[in-house]
Amino acid sequence: MHTTSVALVGLGSYLPPQRISNEALCERLDTTDEWITSRTGIRNRHWAGPGVATGDLAVEAGHRALKSAGLEAGPGAVDLVVLATTTPDNPCPATAPDVASRLGLGPIAAYDIAAVCSGFLYALAAASAQITAGQAQRALVIGAETYSTILNPTDRTTNVIFGDGAGAVVLSAASGQDEAGLLLAVELGSDGSGRDLITIPAGGSRQRATTPAPDADDRYFTMRGKQVFTQAVNRMTESSQTVLDRLGWAADQVDWLVGHQANARILNAVARGLSIPAERAVMNLDRVGNTSAASIPLALADAAGDGSLTPGARVLLTAFGGGLTWGAVALTWPDIVAA
Ligand code: COA
Repeated sequence: MHTTSVALVGLGSYLPPQRISNEALCERLDTTDEWITSRTGIRNRHWAGPGVATGDLAVEAGHRALKSAGLEAGPGAVDLVVLATTTPDNPCPATAPDVASRLGLGPIAAYDIAAVCSGFLYALAAASAQITAGQAQRALVIGAETYSTILNPTDRTTNVIFGDGAGAVVLSAASGQDEAGLLLAVELGSDGSGRDLITIPAGGSRQRATTPAPDADDRYFTMRGKQVFTQAVNRMTESSQTVLDRLGWAADQVDWLVGHQANARILNAVARGLSIPAERAVMNLDRVGNTSAASIPLALADAAGDGSLTPGARVLLTAFGGGLTWGAVALTWPDIVAA
């Protein structure tokens, strides 16, 4: 039986211009550059300015991904938009239809995915499954975040870690089995019993915005760092290993490990657990911090831009996030220029 393959054919990224250094955070929080760099590896992150929403970043990254794929933003460019985000423009409606509309893509299917830092891999899985099922030919898959809008200004742990940004890829139906850019395996998982480890307690149906008004702090993003750390290492290592086993790839056949940019110590531990040398683990968190659903496409854009990712390279993506959720995706790198 003939099955449709799915190829990555375009990649774009966008960072809001305002860069926030560790030193800038030290001016208003009880922290030090030494603590932040040694515990996380992060030196800078970008935060969107007042009035800039996730959808604004997503439109920029979407434009660039379409351009990278040789497509004009307009009707017929793609027939599906999937947007992964933790920070939608509004609790209702989803942000993806607005992004599709602003890109002039016509009355196509568009929806959000909420899987926190694993969101981009969940979105890749959903879009590629729709293409494989014949429900779409080409999809724009975006990861976009403005965590600066949900951080508790007094919480030093989350402030130093999270950044804003957006990355996007174009996926397309492909007939060949051996062309570069093919998605080769997808593995996803979740464990809702860990829901409290990463959460915004209020604002949903469990703790409504109406009376009695929720505690102000409950409207902010919260994280239990230590427990998250251990879970992130274990889940990303396990799901990556599952994908490697399914494809019959040995660790030395992976050219690049592109993990969710949570923390340099987490990424190094995952690489070590998979026996992949640290030099083959892409790391850009020193410049952008943890950008949650935007993390993997931003890391891909960085590695493509500096020439690390070359056509045909075997790439392993892996992520972990709130939910708890996690996943891994393997692909061969396409012959594209990131925009
Ligand atoms: N500056 C200075 N000290 C800080 C600090 C900061 N920005 N943030 C926390 N600390 C303090 C803590 O209060 C704690 O103090 P205490 O020992 O007096 O209680 C101390 O540093 C150690 O905290 P701990 O949580 O044990 O540190 P850690 O080595 O686990 O590092 C994280 C903390 C948050 C960096 C780490 O747990 C982490 O990266 N977790 C995963 C985060 C993540 O990636 N989340 C996204 C989900 S994918």
